[in-house]
Amino acid sequence: MTLEWCAPTRRSTASSRRSALAPRRRKSGSRTRRLSPGTCEVNVVFVDRSGKRIPATGRVGEDVLRLAQRHGVELEGACEASLACSTCHVYVSEEHLAVLPPPEEREDDMLDMAPQLQENSRLGCQIILTKELEGAQFTLPKITRNFYVDGHIPKPH
Ligand code: FES
Repeated sequence: MTLEWCAPTRRSTASSRRSALAPRRRKSGSRTRRLSPGTCEVNVVFVDRSGKRIPATGRVGEDVLRLAQRHGVELEGACEASLACSTCHVYVSEEHLAVLPPPEEREDDMLDMAPQLQENSRLGCQIILTKELEGAQFTLPKITRNFYVDGHIPKPH
């Protein structure tokens, strides 16, 4: 039997920290199985503002903004994923756009403020990696509107 489950990589919250520290209980009779390291990996490519292609390997459950920042891609993310800016704006490869859930109203509102909006525009901090995004390409627009602090590039936590 093949087990297709990946532990999502989520932002740390008080609740997730508590559950991470709590002793794990196993239901009697349940079986767990260790996954091979590649099972949860998702390979994507970023195209930066100069047109340079940057391959990146993320994990199911990780968001695209965090993945970009881990790989040194200059995707700003000024509000650090709180849906208060549009500096994580990316263009999603057409064939992968359909596998994403539609944007929620707050994401749509922020996208409306993004310069150079296209049909395949999304906010990177709202794109959660799934296996269906294997091979996806995320292209950075030539400009973003930064109403935070010019030159500020948040570091991933
Ligand atoms: S980082 Fe601000 S909306 Fe994504």
